[in-house]
Amino acid sequence: MSNFHTPVMVKECIQLLALKAEGIYVDATTGGGGHSLAMLKAEPGIKLFCFDQDAAAIQEARSVIENGEWRIEFIQANFVRLRTELALRKIKGIDGILFDLGVSSHQLDCTERGFSFDKDAPLDMRMNSSQDYSAYNAVNELDARALGKIFRDFGEENHALRIAKAIEASSKPIKTTRELAKIIESVVGSGTKESLKSKVRIFQALRIHVNGELDCLRQAITDSTNLLNPAGRIVVLSYHSLEDRIIKQAFSLAAQECICPPAIINCVCSHRRQLKVLTKSPLLASEEELAVNVRARSAKLRAAEKLCLKNKERI
Ligand SMILES: C[S@@+](CC[C@H](N)C(=O)[O-])C[C@H]1O[C@@H](n2cnc3c(N)ncnc32)[C@H](O)[C@@H]1O
Repeated sequence: MSNFHTPVMVKECIQLLALKAEGIYVDATTGGGGHSLAMLKAEPGIKLFCFDQDAAAIQEARSVIENGEWRIEFIQANFVRLRTELALRKIKGIDGILFDLGVSSHQLDCTERGFSFDKDAPLDMRMNSSQDYSAYNAVNELDARALGKIFRDFGEENHALRIAKAIEASSKPIKTTRELAKIIESVVGSGTKESLKSKVRIFQALRIHVNGELDCLRQAITDSTNLLNPAGRIVVLSYHSLEDRIIKQAFSLAAQECICPPAIINCVCSHRRQLKVLTKSPLLASEEELAVNVRARSAKLRAAEKLCLKNKERI
């Protein structure tokens, strides 16, 4: 198994993608190429577009996959550019797309990327290293109100404003993950489960903010849904409740025939049902997988299928 990243719930993802020979597919987050390779092995005739915004991921995926005889193209780009990048390649529709969200083990383990508070590194957290804005900018340039909102909205942290105020009051610049961790500990204490959770939540919130993760995800789910051919599948692995909520709500909205308020008897909305949800509740990793891959612990897998409806069905 690769040190770069061990892919999660591979068998379940492949089953839900229901790959069609000769179909056109996207791995929106190719990472170390584990899921991409599994897709190609399961159905070697597919055309696969592999996206990742991280140059190191694209390089690793290339080395893992490219020596096969596959129809594959690597695209180093944020998946928010899905529609544009596919249009540039004259692709109008796809038969399936996989999202395996968040960071890879490689990104977490790579000290200098600054994703992890238990390694001392420059405050960075950019998935795309050519982006200008990093965690350093956020921590040193935002005021306590803005930082507190980020910690609350993207970390669901109870001590959000107090931690933000401690950051604002500390001497600048704050340069490293350890310095930031110490400031968090000055508010929540150290050595307890709760203080550990606070650090996890604050670092997660900064990462989400720096990479604009949730806005990109919302846009990419909408674009993918529109791009799917009839009977095409969208399959998403998420790792925290904020991501999972976005997927659940997006699927549920796209599965509704009408979004008129209940008081309206004859439908006036132009909303059209696009998806059939395939996973009523999210699938979780099996006990066997959890025993060998701790990362699978928080994984939630949801999938939906594009409907073939042409005109809006009146109810
Ligand atoms: C959990 S890893 C994927 C692992 C992969 N499925 C495998 O089998 O190795 C998530 C990957 O998605 C990438 N990523 C996260 N958000 C992205 C986005 N908005 N656009 C493109 N890539 C993204 C990260 O850089 C990371 O490499």
